Amino acid sequence: MKLSVIGCGYLGAVHAAAMASIGHEVVGIDVDPDKLEALSRGEAPFFEPDLQRLLADGVASGRLRFTHDLEEARGAKFHFVAVGTPQRKDGSAADLTYVNAAIDGLLSILSDGDIVVGKSTTPVGTAQELTPRVESVGGTLVWNPEFLREGWAVKDTIEPDRIVVGVPSRADGEPTAAGHLAVASLREVYAPAVSTGTPFIVTDLATAELVKVAANAFLATKISFINAMSEIAEVTGADVTTLADAIGHDTRIGRRFLGAGIGFGGGCLPKDIRAFAARAEELGRGEAVGFLREVDEINMRRRDRAVAIVEEALGGSVFEKQITVLGAAFKPHSDDVRDSPALDVATRLHGLGAKVKVTDPAAIENARRVSPQLTYVADRDEALEGADLVLLVTEWDEYRREMHPLQVADLVSASIIVDGRNCLDAREWRDAGFVYYGMGRP
Ligand code: UGA
Repeated sequence: MKLSVIGCGYLGAVHAAAMASIGHEVVGIDVDPDKLEALSRGEAPFFEPDLQRLLADGVASGRLRFTHDLEEARGAKFHFVAVGTPQRKDGSAADLTYVNAAIDGLLSILSDGDIVVGKSTTPVGTAQELTPRVESVGGTLVWNPEFLREGWAVKDTIEPDRIVVGVPSRADGEPTAAGHLAVASLREVYAPAVSTGTPFIVTDLATAELVKVAANAFLATKISFINAMSEIAEVTGADVTTLADAIGHDTRIGRRFLGAGIGFGGGCLPKDIRAFAARAEELGRGEAVGFLREVDEINMRRRDRAVAIVEEALGGSVFEKQITVLGAAFKPHSDDVRDSPALDVATRLHGLGAKVKVTDPAAIENARRVSPQLTYVADRDEALEGADLVLLVTEWDEYRREMHPLQVADLVSASIIVDGRNCLDAREWRDAGFVYYGMGRP
């Protein structure tokens, strides 16, 4: 099938490459010439396992190409809208400029019967509002949210755990005739996943948009819940990691996303919960998700707490102290530093007068762009040399599994380690002579 993908950021580039890999003919449209050039060479413009291979294969096969020229999307039956919906500069709501621009652009090239598939994360109600514009030129607008995780994006796109499709519906919730047609066509687009029994959930437009933000809100709430428990553990001497293990055995609760530490960041969870709260306010139901403000605040307090632990560990002040920060990315297997708790904590320590050296296996280039005032060292061991304190803030395997306390002891000036992700074996580090601090652990 012929598909276009409008917007080749994280979501769009992966979607385009994944769709080409399952046999579709795909054109990706973007406005950024550097990104287009890299993608057209079959190179991933960001760190994402497997994407490079998919892009290279897709471009070489002739089934995948990238251009700035929207005209080249003409003739495709499906147009996936995968542009960003960042937080507005003047508040917490989502900025829909790019979504509106993508739809406006598509109006000039759509043919009768084309299907526009929204994948961007939008405030509930947006799809319904956009519908008359798309229908005015004979198209159908459906909403098909994306649940990919950075670091697992290719796998999550090709083998999703569910496919959700919101389609135009009648007052009783049943899809309209155009909605039924769109569902049948999308089943063909996603045939490999559909054939393996992946749940395929057909719903109205509003539910599809809500599924996306509800999922992210739930995940953020789960993380903040365990981080709230950290705060209680800290004043009682309890250990939040053991607590998480113990409650996680209850399958109704589950252990995943109960990793207490410096909290969540990235391009999705923080902005999505804020946009959700803002949208609920607009709908007059702000109180229904009032807890999301708490979730956000608990999350931000973990960064304060990490700074406080470092200060305490260094005797009250970080001024002129040499601190090695392990990690800059918002999570491992990613070079993304958007709203990264790791980089935020490093930057705050620098602001307090510490001499901060940051290392990361993938994110240094991006981190330098955002926080140029910090010192970056690519080699982990070189970064550790002479440290008065080591602060682990992104749980890369390079630090979690491949860093041995006795070797680190030989490099640093003082054996103090703060484990901002509770991912190290405290006993092993203490046995090697380190003073070990976790988050919400004795
Ligand atoms: C998140 C969702 O997990 C995806 O399902 C969703 O599609 C995506 O947002 C999106 O909306 O595009 P992602 O931002 O890639 O994916 O990252 P996550 O793996 O969810 O991690 C988010 C943050 O939570 C990271 O900073 C991570 O370190 C933190 N986290 C995660 C914790 O602090 N504790 C945990 O137990 C788990």
